[in-house]
Amino acid sequence: MNNQHTHGSTPRTHEPETEIALGKGIDLGTANIAAAVQNQDGSITVTLERNAFLDIGDDVYSKNMLTKLKVPYVVHNGKLIVIGESAFELANVFGKNTRRPMSDGLISPGEVDALPVMRMIISKVLGEPRVPGETVCFCIPAESLDVDNNVVYHQGLFQGILGKMGYTARPINEAHAVIFAELADNDFTGIGLSFGGGMVNACIAYKSIPCVQFSVARGGDWIDRNVAQVLGVKQSKACYLKERGVDIRDPKNREEEAVAIYYRNLINYVLQNVKHRFESGQNMPTFNEPVDIACAGGTSMVGGFIEVFREEFGKIDFPIPVGRIFRAEEALTAVAKGCLVAAAIGE
Ligand SMILES: Nc1ncnc2c1ncn2[C@@H]1O[C@H](COP(=O)(O)OP(=O)(O)O)[C@@H](O)[C@H]1O
Ligand SMILES: [Mg+2]
Repeated sequence: MNNQHTHGSTPRTHEPETEIALGKGIDLGTANIAAAVQNQDGSITVTLERNAFLDIGDDVYSKNMLTKLKVPYVVHNGKLIVIGESAFELANVFGKNTRRPMSDGLISPGEVDALPVMRMIISKVLGEPRVPGETVCFCIPAESLDVDNNVVYHQGLFQGILGKMGYTARPINEAHAVIFAELADNDFTGIGLSFGGGMVNACIAYKSIPCVQFSVARGGDWIDRNVAQVLGVKQSKACYLKERGVDIRDPKNREEEAVAIYYRNLINYVLQNVKHRFESGQNMPTFNEPVDIACAGGTSMVGGFIEVFREEFGKIDFPIPVGRIFRAEEALTAVAKGCLVAAAIGE
């Protein structure tokens, strides 16, 4: 081992083993931004931050208050900006709503402060590249079936932001990332579904190559909006009801019933669309073995999700044999991990 020489140069002394796999992954979600890096011991650290902010007038009184509350802020365009989880907590104290840089899976068209704020959140969770031009895979949604959305613009913006930070940025579809995170044992063949706040993304891959990718502009926010409407409550209240521990197999009251109804509808809608893609047959390889379905994303965290998913799956006549249907163990961070795996494979 100590006889090793680098090609045509002086003999090398033994170098310390700093073999960290380079490359990072970042999940740019409507609700959460998560960055994944590999540590020296091979474990993975995921840093999560809410994709939200709050702006406060820039005056001495407000500055003092934030300092007293130990809330970090930056001054931007004559306002004090608080980002992420701190913004959420502060919004609660003041009974205000946070502002959101993204909606329905994409950068918000009407939010002028969206880009600078996302730049701040991204640099907070991702940090600097460890070598110049380190690869970062970032997730993007697929074109949506039900709304006209501009994924190209969204992708270009973030490619630019990450590039300016010194990274080599590569986009990957969000559901494809779920396959990278969860279906390694299947040779990255199968169906990945990411149930987010703004969207559901779907990907069907064969040996890591995506054959079909699409999204629907319905997700957790869509459930909240509909539940709020039928119950006559605020959307934030509906979201609270949904997250506080409903079991959609067994709703206990009218509120939970409403949540369960929209969950079933969403799952059925996604499954019907996947089925339709298989039946139309375009770009579809022949799967010889039963394929697995991996689900991830915050919306899949509700109680009874996978059981209801299997029930709805049983009701439709799915065109190909399916093996396991499961939820990622860490549903909220699976996409970020998948982006990291994609970056590592690329390096
Ligand atoms: N325990 C939970 N039960 C149900 N929904 C949840 C739970 N935790 C988070 N969510 C929902 O997950 C969504 C956010 O998921 P996430 O995957 O981070 O979305 P995005 O990819 O859009 O950022 C929100 O709609 C939120 O209400
Ligand atoms: Mg997501």
